[in-house]
Amino acid sequence: MIKFPKDFTWGTATASYQIEGAWLEGGKGLSIWDAFAHTPGKIVHGDTGDVTCDHFHRIKEDVALMAGMGLKAYRFSIAWSRILPAGRGRPNPEGIRFYSNLIDELLAHEIVPWVTLYHWDLPLALQLELDGWLNPTMPEIFRDYTAICFESFGDRVKNWITFNEPWVVSILGYGQGVFAPGRVSKSEPYQVAHQILRAHSQAVDVYRRKFQAKQNGTIGITNNCDWREPLTDSEKDRQAAQRALEFFLGWFADPIYRGDYPAVMRERVADRLPKFSDRDKALILGSSDFFGLNHYTTMYAAHSEGNDADVNPYGNGGISEDQDVHLSTDRLWSKTQMGWSIVPWGCRKLLHWIDERYNHPDIVITENGCAYDDKLEQGKVHDQERINFLSAYLNECRQAIEEGISLKGYFLWSLMDNFEWALGFSRRFGIHYVDLETGKRIPKESAQWYSNLIKNNGF
Ligand code: GAL
Repeated sequence: MIKFPKDFTWGTATASYQIEGAWLEGGKGLSIWDAFAHTPGKIVHGDTGDVTCDHFHRIKEDVALMAGMGLKAYRFSIAWSRILPAGRGRPNPEGIRFYSNLIDELLAHEIVPWVTLYHWDLPLALQLELDGWLNPTMPEIFRDYTAICFESFGDRVKNWITFNEPWVVSILGYGQGVFAPGRVSKSEPYQVAHQILRAHSQAVDVYRRKFQAKQNGTIGITNNCDWREPLTDSEKDRQAAQRALEFFLGWFADPIYRGDYPAVMRERVADRLPKFSDRDKALILGSSDFFGLNHYTTMYAAHSEGNDADVNPYGNGGISEDQDVHLSTDRLWSKTQMGWSIVPWGCRKLLHWIDERYNHPDIVITENGCAYDDKLEQGKVHDQERINFLSAYLNECRQAIEEGISLKGYFLWSLMDNFEWALGFSRRFGIHYVDLETGKRIPKESAQWYSNLIKNNGF
């Protein structure tokens, strides 16, 4: 039996655009994902999040699912355009009521809410009027939105995450253009990342100055990172792997834990990498109470000179010309339906890398999970591959804890099948199967497995 520490947080995660639906209801404004999904050619099969899991109308049922499994925590995100339909101005009472009801329902079932303030669905008005995250006034606008959330929900919400995966927003949204707002550029990702870091720090600042003392919560940011394993033992490949990690995670975590972007980025990106003012630096340094990590896969990294066209747009790479890193996978590694390699030891190595580089922070895995081509057969989904994936990754997490890593929690992605961004409904990540015709939720075998794990605090 593999046991976890007594106070370990066990949860599942979702995001507003992926599960809520009700895109034109409850006084909600449009977001960039509404617009992107409605742009022909952007999403597989032309799918949209208009209805998706219809969670907006099913919060009681969904919380009952969680309670039935014995979930201890639930991570969801707030759709900014439900709170402020045009991104700023007067709050929409119906939007506030919706999240307030969800939070109350969770607490009534002793499930601790973990709330992400931004999971990619920027109010469309801010994109049209200001060019979204490119605009240096966005940090204040974000801060004001988050203050409304702290004010409205902070009496009950004690775990806040400002941003989910700024890397994805920057690289997939502004570099490769495969996610909203669909821009393709070699310099905008760096500008966007810069404004997001500033926005994060301003939200944290307002929370700490005005709310934290009386509300007694914690606030942090969630970054995503794969592990990069040197392809060979050569010094060049080892440096390439280190460089790849600094471009991936150091880009966002270094300013927060060490005060500025990694030196290797400054050297290589030069003028395209913006500079923080002294005031920015002071606000950003130390602005995360915990280290939120989303982790899915591992790749080999080797030194390569010049352009590496071999970039997988779904979760890997970066602006590769800036890194001189060639990424590859091992033919022998099994892959999930995303094509992502299953390399559980990569998770443990990454936890150690974070622990060392950032001076032993408390780490929370805010997402980990996998997509498989799950089939509903006679009312059941036999997803043994998912159970294998989860046990293997959790086994490495457990070992990391034994080796001294301060890992405090784990959120499985996802509670239920949902809208998987540019891949629409073609990928199922849930531990509940969602019948997209009827909206019916059916627990997969992995849901039962996870429920037992939580009950025993181990497996
Ligand atoms: C993450 C993202 C989630 C989910 C997951 C699986 O990058 O935060 O919203 O889609 O990947 O691809």
